[in-house]
Amino acid sequence: MKKQIAIDVSHISKIYKTEVMETVALDDVSFTIDKGEFVAIMGPSGSGKSTLMHILGALDKPTSGTYILDGENVEKLSDDELADIRNRKIGFIFQAFNLLPRTTILQNVMLPMRYGGVPVEERKVRAQKYLEMVGLGNRLNHTTNQISGGQQQRVAIARALVMTPAMLLADEPTGNIASAQAEEVMSIFQTLNDAGHTIVMITHEPDIAYHAKRIIHVRDGKITEDLKNHVRTVAKKLTHLET
Ligand SMILES: Nc1ncnc2c1ncn2[C@@H]1O[C@H](COP(=O)(O)OP(=O)(O)O)[C@@H](O)[C@H]1O
Ligand SMILES: [Mg+2]
Repeated sequence: MKKQIAIDVSHISKIYKTEVMETVALDDVSFTIDKGEFVAIMGPSGSGKSTLMHILGALDKPTSGTYILDGENVEKLSDDELADIRNRKIGFIFQAFNLLPRTTILQNVMLPMRYGGVPVEERKVRAQKYLEMVGLGNRLNHTTNQISGGQQQRVAIARALVMTPAMLLADEPTGNIASAQAEEVMSIFQTLNDAGHTIVMITHEPDIAYHAKRIIHVRDGKITEDLKNHVRTVAKKLTHLET
């Protein structure tokens, strides 16, 4: 099967300008991500990860260069069109979960469908399906403050999936949770990726990045390394040792 491209970033630069100085946050970055990939973007603080995440998520536009997301040229769109593309094509997962407090997890997951124009009777069915998928089918009427951080992040994953986005975009998804729960979240990502979901995850933690199949390293606004299929390579070595 011919590979389809989810993300095509070409010669992207981002310059933040203030009255006193200019900061080059991204400096002529180019890469593509195929549909079905699971990619981690890694780099030290200040390297340009959040800037890149904002551009990939259509939350901000590059100063120069082109960005094609799932076949649509993003840098030409108006703010309204950007909002629309975000809602249809991207499932966001943030470090801070960004769930509504004092609201049931079922309602939290139903919310994007209200904005997305999904018929009322379908919203609950779909929300329930994705909450079951992340192992929270027995917590539907718990409010967000009644569950753990790891469970809250699983709710956020279900919420990111209900509009069936072209990709999941996660910014430090395990930054606020304990390590055992972080492993659970990564195992959900792996299951989703095995089922064909495209995942782009920003992290500064090597242990988390190693769950991805490809690791892009960013430093001073440039890509310094792009490791494809590294996990498969490790797996092969292990098999080799066993035989
Ligand atoms: N809104 C902004 N205005 C000015 N400079 C910014 C802004 N956002 C980020 N920067 C600068 O751009 C560079 C990259 O920042 P960022 O993308 O947040 O890196 P990271 O997420 O890897 O820590 C840093 O030097 C940062 O200080
Ligand atoms: Mg950042």
